[in-house]
Amino acid sequence: MDSPSPIDRRQFLKLGTLAATAAALGPAYSNAEAAPVYTLAPLPYGFDALEPHMDARTMEIHHGKHHAAYIKSLNTALASSPELAQMPLEKLLASLPAVQDEALRNTLRNHGGGHWNHDFFWNTLTPAVKSAKPSPDLAAALNSAFGSMEAFQKSFAEAAAKRFGSGWAWLIIKDGKLKITSTPNQDNPSMVGLVPEADLGTALLGLDVWEHAYYLHYQNRRPDYVTAWWNIVNWSMVSDRFAAAK
Ligand SMILES: [Fe+2]
Repeated sequence: MDSPSPIDRRQFLKLGTLAATAAALGPAYSNAEAAPVYTLAPLPYGFDALEPHMDARTMEIHHGKHHAAYIKSLNTALASSPELAQMPLEKLLASLPAVQDEALRNTLRNHGGGHWNHDFFWNTLTPAVKSAKPSPDLAAALNSAFGSMEAFQKSFAEAAAKRFGSGWAWLIIKDGKLKITSTPNQDNPSMVGLVPEADLGTALLGLDVWEHAYYLHYQNRRPDYVTAWWNIVNWSMVSDRFAAAK
């Protein structure tokens, strides 16, 4: 198994969002028996960098406890499945329907998905820049698909609000068309064979609506969390993902 080499931004985009993320998350060690397959990457900004929209304590717990726990459980599960431990994360998630052991499949789905989703999430955020906007191409596509930026944000917020319990809201692109979806638990739009066909596509934007993402600061006010979240969306990253995927 090859160890991953650092990939620069251009390579990341060239590879495509899912594939590149999988590469970045790929096995970090050549000996799965002696070392964890996956490790927690540091945030690309400080814990307090997203204040006041996302508070430092939430970020610290979300990243250092919740995301770390997904990785720990994923590594534990992979310790008994060396053939799966050899796969890049994207391939592993795409291979889950073929995993016969239901308990193992569910563990990998929840914790492998949790790892991928959170890595994607951290890289979808950036310290508040009010002037940040989607690229002209993405803005035009959002207007075409949803009528206006405001209408898109309203529909996305509704999807986030209506996701019962824990899960994610997504902006995806499939066959060149933008669409809003949501998934339960730690499922994501790349999980072929596990999530409904309508929710499959290339993720451009994802919002964590688990209570652990907002409860310390927003308590039960998920809509307020969603409203504030727009202030820290990394539209440059989302636009680059769109350009790579379309
Ligand atoms: Fe989370």
